[in-house]
Amino acid sequence: MYVAQPIEWTEQGVMMLDQRRLPADEIHYTYTDYREVAKAIRDMVVRGAPAIGVAAAMGVALGVQKSPARTIAELQTELSEICETLAKTRPTAVDLFWALERMKGRFAELARSTNDLGKIRGAMVQEAKEVHAEKKATDEAIGRFGAEYMPKEGQVMTQCNAGALATAGIGTALGVIRVAFEQGRKIHVLVPETRPYLQGARLTAWELYRGGIPLTLITDNMVGHFLKTGKVGAIVTGADRIAANGDTANKIGTYQIAVLAKENNVPFYIAAPISTFDLSIASGEQIPIEERSSGEVTHIQGVRIAPDVPAAHPAFDVTPNRYIAAIFTERGVAKAPYTETLRELAAAGSPAKAAS
Ligand code: MRU
Repeated sequence: MYVAQPIEWTEQGVMMLDQRRLPADEIHYTYTDYREVAKAIRDMVVRGAPAIGVAAAMGVALGVQKSPARTIAELQTELSEICETLAKTRPTAVDLFWALERMKGRFAELARSTNDLGKIRGAMVQEAKEVHAEKKATDEAIGRFGAEYMPKEGQVMTQCNAGALATAGIGTALGVIRVAFEQGRKIHVLVPETRPYLQGARLTAWELYRGGIPLTLITDNMVGHFLKTGKVGAIVTGADRIAANGDTANKIGTYQIAVLAKENNVPFYIAAPISTFDLSIASGEQIPIEERSSGEVTHIQGVRIAPDVPAAHPAFDVTPNRYIAAIFTERGVAKAPYTETLRELAAAGSPAKAAS
C-alpha cells in the first residue's frame, strides 16, 4: 500500500516533500543548511509532531556535519546554537524538543568517548537516521495495538492529518486505520477538512485515496451531525503533546470532536508515540499553544476569503483526559487513570507491554 515519504536523509542534504503544495503538486526540496530546515518546520513544509521530531534530528545532524568547528568545544558551542534555532520553530509538538534532547545526549556521549570530529559528525548523522527508522517501527506497533479497537465494519472519524506525512512512518491515527484496513476490517473514514490549514482535506484525503482506503470528506461543522446520526464506530486522532494526566493537545477542533463524541457515545481514541508524552507537566493547562498567523484564517492558498478584520489562529486545543477512552502507544494501550498508566508505559522498556 502506498506510504508517503515526507522527509529523507540523502547524501546531498535533508530532502522534504513540500506539504503546503499538496495535493496539487508533489515538489521536493533538498536543504543543506540547518537554518533552512528550521524555516521549513516553521513554514509547514514538514508538519505533524513526529515528523517535526525527525526533521529536527536531521537538522541537528546537518548543522554538525556542515559546521566549520575545529575542536569539540567549538562544535559544542555550535550545537547549542543549532538546537536553539530549531527549538524556536513550533512550540506545541513535544517531539521537537524530545528529538533535540536526544541529539544533544548523543553528542555528549560521543564527546566523552572520542576527539575525532569526523567520527562525531558521522555518528550524529547515523543517530538522526535511527530516529527516523524508529518512527517507522513505532507507528507499526501503535497501529497493531490500536487496530483492535477499530470496528469490524463501519465509519471511523479522524482529525487533521496523523498519517505518514505527519510521522515519517505509516502514521499514528492513520496507521491504526491502515493496519485495521489491512486486517480486513471494512472501514470507511470520515475526514473533517480541518480549517484553517486544511490538513484533512489536502493531506489525509490524499493519503487515504492513494492508499485505497475508502473515505468521505466533510467540513468541520458537519462533525456533530455525523456523530449524532449514529454511524460512527470510533474516532482516532494523533497528538502533539500529552500531559502526565492524559490531557492531550492536538490540532484545533479536536476538543470539540471529543466532547461531541462523549455526548453521542462514540469512543474517542488518541494514537501517539511515547515521545509525545510530556510527563513534566501535570495537566494540559501547562501546554503552550502555538498562535499562527491570522492570514491563514483570512486567506486560503493566498486567496482572501474574509474582509480585512482581526482573525485568531490558535493551532491546537487541549482535550481533557475524561473525554479520551484510550491512548494507543508503541508499548501498549493506556486507559484511565492516565497519571498511573502513562507513567507505567513511559517506564516500560519493551514495546509489547499493555497497561490497562
Ligand atoms: O499543525 P500541524 O499540521 O503540525 O498539526 C498536526 C497535528 O495536529 C497532528 O494531529 C499531530 O501532530 C499528530 S501527527 C501524528
